[in-house]
Amino acid sequence: MSWKPCGQRSEPGARPVRPGGPGQSARSRKSARAGRAIARRESDNVRVGIVGGGRIADLNCLGWFDHQAGEIGAICDANQSVRERRAAEWSCKAFKSLDDMLADDSLDAIEILTPHHLHAEQAIAAFEAGKHVSIQKPPTITLDEFDRVVDAAGRAGKIFKTFENFHFYPPHQLARSLIDNGEIGEVLSVRIVTASGNMGNGQGWEIPADSYTWRLDPAKCGGGTLTFDHGYHSFEMGRFFVDAPIDRVHSFVNFFEIGPGMAFDIPALISWSYSGQPVRMGSWELIASLGLDIEAEYYVTDDRIEIRGSQGIVWVNKCSGEVMKEPPVVLYRGGESRGFHRVDSRWATSFRLATHDFINAIREGRPASSLAPPEARATLAFALAAQVSARENREVSIAELG
Ligand SMILES: NC(=O)c1ccc[n+]([C@@H]2O[C@H](COP(=O)([O-])OP(=O)(O)OC[C@H]3O[C@@H](n4cnc5c(N)ncnc54)[C@H](O)[C@@H]3O)[C@@H](O)[C@H]2O)c1
Repeated sequence: MSWKPCGQRSEPGARPVRPGGPGQSARSRKSARAGRAIARRESDNVRVGIVGGGRIADLNCLGWFDHQAGEIGAICDANQSVRERRAAEWSCKAFKSLDDMLADDSLDAIEILTPHHLHAEQAIAAFEAGKHVSIQKPPTITLDEFDRVVDAAGRAGKIFKTFENFHFYPPHQLARSLIDNGEIGEVLSVRIVTASGNMGNGQGWEIPADSYTWRLDPAKCGGGTLTFDHGYHSFEMGRFFVDAPIDRVHSFVNFFEIGPGMAFDIPALISWSYSGQPVRMGSWELIASLGLDIEAEYYVTDDRIEIRGSQGIVWVNKCSGEVMKEPPVVLYRGGESRGFHRVDSRWATSFRLATHDFINAIREGRPASSLAPPEARATLAFALAAQVSARENREVSIAELG
């Protein structure tokens, strides 16, 4: 069986080396910068301005450096030390004000990596300045905001991508291609488990306190820190493996207080049904195993997906963390199991591929392959329905959200 994830590294444009990226010497960065400046004059590189240089920018920058036509031209961050650090790491201009960055005609595109309540207005301003826009998930915090961004993109005639790297994670792509090849028959259920582990012990990324502050404020996050922020990924995965719209959603969410007016929405159990026949259901279980050791380069979470079909089962055994050295994807069918060990299961790869998709879309004058606005909106409606269900303690129909 052959399969190819969308935007994988052998695609046109990908380059193996990352000039000018973090970790290189100042000297090699400088010569890489000079080389890129020459290349820019002679080619039509896509130049991006990144808004928000916080934690996730470490991964969002990667695809700009290893695509031969990608280039980071500027950083805009409200925090002076963050913007100065990123400008030095990326050898790019630094702006305090987004309006000033948007006035820079050398930038073709804007990537938005800021707290969620800022996404819509920043995206609309970027479209009005004639830029293409990629927004980290969740794209906005309401459907009304989302629709206003889509309208602005349409008026500008520019590309609007919701950056959902889970969609580009090669094990997820492989699982989807196994389903497409009929390996498990008809999909009947999707079961997702996310367990946070012990963040001490030198495991995983250091997450700055500021990165949590806005997430714990529902007005800025748009919903629960885990069920809405991380949840967007799980809801997208709930949709990714089944070709039918989500119909109804039910959430049990516990609020674990960590201070006055501050709580993590964990544990949680969210379930849903799909429209049409046969009857298909899905669930997402979110657990805090705070004493659990999880080897991880990034977030200390164990993510697993089990997709059951009429004739077989597919498991995706990892994402950001690595609990056991299992094959990233396993297929069971007809009394036999097959482990796919060779699929690229580095989480960073999903970010590179999602960025390459944006760059290639701009160069080829086509919409980004994922997430296109209708897909991003459907996942946002699903995520918002889960929030309403938790708040009002009832089953919610997606149709209620409009
Ligand atoms: N795909 C994933 O797996 C993943 C993981 C983490 C975060 N994210 C998403 O990425 C985005 C950023 O998350 P993060 O963890 O990097 O957050 P963060 O808090 O670490 O970084 C946000 C940055 O935005 C800056 N900022 C705040 N207000 C600003 C403004 N008005 N103008 C310019 N800069 C401003 C802050 O100074 C900070 O440096 C969010 O949408 C989040 O959901 C996605």
